[in-house]
Amino acid sequence: MTHPQRPPSAPAVDQTNRDSAFLTAMRRERAPHTPVWFMRQAGRYMPEYRALRAGRSMLECIRTPDLAAEITMQPIKAFNVDAAILFNDILTPLPTMGLDLDFVGGVGPQIANRIETPADVDRLGVPATAETMPYTMESIRLVRQQLDPRGIPLIGFIGAPFTLASYAIEGKGSKTYDRTKRFMYAEPAAWARLMGKFEAILGDYLEQQVRAGAQAVQVFDSWVGMLSVHDYRTFVKPATDRLVQRVKGLGVPVIYFGTGTQHLLPDMASLGTDVVGADWRLPLDEAWKLLQPGQGIQGNLDPLLLQAPWRELKHQVDRILAEAGGRPGHIFNVGHGLLPETPMDNVARVIDYVHERTAKGG
Ligand code: CP3
Repeated sequence: MTHPQRPPSAPAVDQTNRDSAFLTAMRRERAPHTPVWFMRQAGRYMPEYRALRAGRSMLECIRTPDLAAEITMQPIKAFNVDAAILFNDILTPLPTMGLDLDFVGGVGPQIANRIETPADVDRLGVPATAETMPYTMESIRLVRQQLDPRGIPLIGFIGAPFTLASYAIEGKGSKTYDRTKRFMYAEPAAWARLMGKFEAILGDYLEQQVRAGAQAVQVFDSWVGMLSVHDYRTFVKPATDRLVQRVKGLGVPVIYFGTGTQHLLPDMASLGTDVVGADWRLPLDEAWKLLQPGQGIQGNLDPLLLQAPWRELKHQVDRILAEAGGRPGHIFNVGHGLLPETPMDNVARVIDYVHERTAKGG
């Protein structure tokens, strides 16, 4: 087993499209308009995505740079979004560590040999990601060639240790994370080794993504809100903090995102990322108060509202913009990923409306 080493210096800082609305807002500087992008902006609600996915597996698309680049560009071509997010998945590293991952249509991710014992943790590899996932970096290089002339920056991403561990231990998605919590409480030493393995591979992977051209990065801790404040601090925060500190050294702005995290926001914010992602449960201004001084916020439209009539959708977009109050450092997004039932017209309309409402004149 090879352990990725931290190189002596951070990658050289890439200045391309530095003045885009998205990268300006990530620096918490006044942007020409509030930038908008959506988690899962490439996906099944788009007919062009369904057409490209027909007869091809999720993993095949992720592992074929031409396909991953084309899917990444689909929402860029369809809408006026301010950032692209690489088409990939947070679970892509799991097979490289020895976990048999499959995306089962209509069911979601499944792992045939999930982690059940401490010995299973010790069997997991931490291979050098440049060798095991070269397609991700190649996809980034391809997408950048298409994005740069359009002035659109590219977001790279990883899952966070807890959220990846939850899939590795449950073997699938879960509502209550019983197996994950049982393992965490019963086997704290093995749990810490598991967090450490994810910390190592994810730090290396994101570094490779930045070297290949990711201009900002998001750490998805989608399910961490399932934990109490005590358990987050005891079992999850230390490795996540070390990972985030390493990622902050890469020279690109960082977003840390989770759902159902109202109680965790002060702790999550204390990791000191440029921006923290918030779901729709708290009003944006209340969530913002829980962050560190000067930190930006990303969110927080309920993705289901994109299926509401325009009257209600517009009203709630207005409400969120009022809560943001024109402060620099707001990145408009959904509070969780776009749903397959989302009408494309509403996506287009919200983006254009946010731009129009927040355009700085002159
Ligand atoms: O945001 C983007 O557009 C970039 C691509 C992206 C995907 N997944 C593509 C995808 C990103 C950033 C992710 C992150 C991801 N993947 C998360 C964190 C964000 C979140 O939603 O909480 C999680 C938990 C996963 C794991 C995952 N991947 C699940 C639970 C599923 C199945 C659920 C579903 O919607 O089917 C996937 C599959 C997946 N990843 C799809 C897409 C577009 C749908 C699969 C398909 O098209 O057949």
